[in-house]
Amino acid sequence: MLSEKLLNEFNVQVKHEFFSANFYLAMASYCKHEDLDGFANFFLVQAEEERFHAMKFFNFINELGGRARITAYDEPKNDFVSLEEVFTEALKHEEFVTERINYLMSIAVEEKNYACISFLNWFVDEQVEEISMFTGLLNKLKRIGENGHAIYMLDAELAQRTFVPPAE
Ligand SMILES: [Fe+2]
Repeated sequence: MLSEKLLNEFNVQVKHEFFSANFYLAMASYCKHEDLDGFANFFLVQAEEERFHAMKFFNFINELGGRARITAYDEPKNDFVSLEEVFTEALKHEEFVTERINYLMSIAVEEKNYACISFLNWFVDEQVEEISMFTGLLNKLKRIGENGHAIYMLDAELAQRTFVPPAE
């Protein structure tokens, strides 16, 4: 069972996760336009992960007898001037999502809703990975600077990323 508060906040999270997917699509499009196909691939995969997150909340809400609601999403930022800006925005966004997950967890703990705590634990771990990944890439980009050869190498590396639905 979901309290009304948790149901509402979980639905807000569905919206945030779908927004995240759109935000990363906008970043993929910027990279593609800059002929950075590997970076574009990286963000396309990231967008798929976010849709997977949204559907995890969607399914969980419905499993617990609530009803997931689909709403409009804000328009994400579409214009960027550099890869460093893209990754700075991405990291900032993941920090926001981490705060959201922690907030949801704090409600679940307060309400002693153990099913929600167990469900949210997966997202707590996932956010540690997301923050670590984006921090690492942003640091690499800062070190690389305008070095075209190094950007080419990183682009080739990111072209290898594929979406693998995480095991439950
Ligand atoms: Fe997410």
